[in-house]
Amino acid sequence: MARLCGDRVIRPAMLIVAHDETARSQLKERIAAVSPPGMEVLAATSGEEGLGMLYALREQNRPIELVIASQGMPGIPGGRFLEIVNAQFSGVGKILLSDKPSLDEAIYAFNNAGLDKYIPTPWDPEDVKFTITALLRQREMKKLNEKLLSDLQVRNQQLTAALGNLEQARNDLEHSYIQTVESLAVALEAKDRYTSGHSQRVARFARLIGRSMGLQNQDVEIIGQVALLHDIGKIGMLDKILNKPANLTPEEREAIKAHPVVGAQILAPVATFAKHVEGIKHHHEMYDGTGYPDRLKGTDIPLSARIVCLADAFDAMTSTRPYRVGLPLEFAMQEMKKMAGRQFCPDCVEAFIRVLKSKGVVEEEGTAPAPAADQPTALPAAGGTADQNSSQDAAAPLPPSELRTGT
Ligand SMILES: [Fe+2]
Repeated sequence: MARLCGDRVIRPAMLIVAHDETARSQLKERIAAVSPPGMEVLAATSGEEGLGMLYALREQNRPIELVIASQGMPGIPGGRFLEIVNAQFSGVGKILLSDKPSLDEAIYAFNNAGLDKYIPTPWDPEDVKFTITALLRQREMKKLNEKLLSDLQVRNQQLTAALGNLEQARNDLEHSYIQTVESLAVALEAKDRYTSGHSQRVARFARLIGRSMGLQNQDVEIIGQVALLHDIGKIGMLDKILNKPANLTPEEREAIKAHPVVGAQILAPVATFAKHVEGIKHHHEMYDGTGYPDRLKGTDIPLSARIVCLADAFDAMTSTRPYRVGLPLEFAMQEMKKMAGRQFCPDCVEAFIRVLKSKGVVEEEGTAPAPAADQPTALPAAGGTADQNSSQDAAAPLPPSELRTGT
């Protein structure tokens, strides 16, 4: 119970106040016998002397555990003495020994002196010992609980601060992640000069489809990122294959068809991309089960993959490239409707058609309006090699079936 304060040992104390010398010395002896080591048991002959000793203890910053007072004393009676103690020394345990016990006296003392125990005389020595021991233990438990509560509050404050730091770290990580996504997409676009801007456009179309389907913002954002990275597997492919617009050999076609799996393998080890991997791996699956790599069918194909598949094909159909002319918007919509349930997810097509028909959406998303069906798309300057231009008539649009296939 004793504690150190600097180099000084602080001893807690108990005080017995009783006028009768025999009773006082017996009490002191018995209480000292059950007191914990380090506890000093003091005794006073009157309330006045007792108060003086309590003030002195407080001056010395010594804890006062318990005050035991006898009711019958000249000067300040025990009950009144304990009332003063209660008012001036908070947290001190109090016991009143009464030589003329009465219910009224006990009630008054409990209510006004904050009494812990009322003991009528003649008191049983064993009862006094038990009461003192129980009270001291109870007070020790209370102190322990208060300390635990205080530690808990400090811990809570530390946790709150740590959560704030964690939130900041999460935001930094998310920012870093978005930058990584953007860098990967830019790196991919840089490899393929014929599809410049393709991934960004597919991402915009995919978000449009997702929103039109009523998906939550968080899911729409992930689908947009899947779209942005859908062809990331091409990053390891040879430029001579990627930049070859037509007449691919069967081997070259097989190499290109590996890109969804390669893309999934690139992102799989990164936990942040956990929700993206499946969408990337399956963005060339067909709704009727004739796609690749796993020939998944219908809703077995992840929704993000179905949306990206449609957005990818739409961009392939409507964008004009050096070696072929894109389809008009109306024609592309007809193709999507025709292929709903075969190449594309019907729900995705319905959602996309709905949003494409919304006036101004295409402009709002930053995509140039497609030319009308009766207005031929102007060809940009040829960007391919002489061989490419000779092998593919740049002025002639490819058949829809080929245009419709996403990259
Ligand atoms: Fe692809």
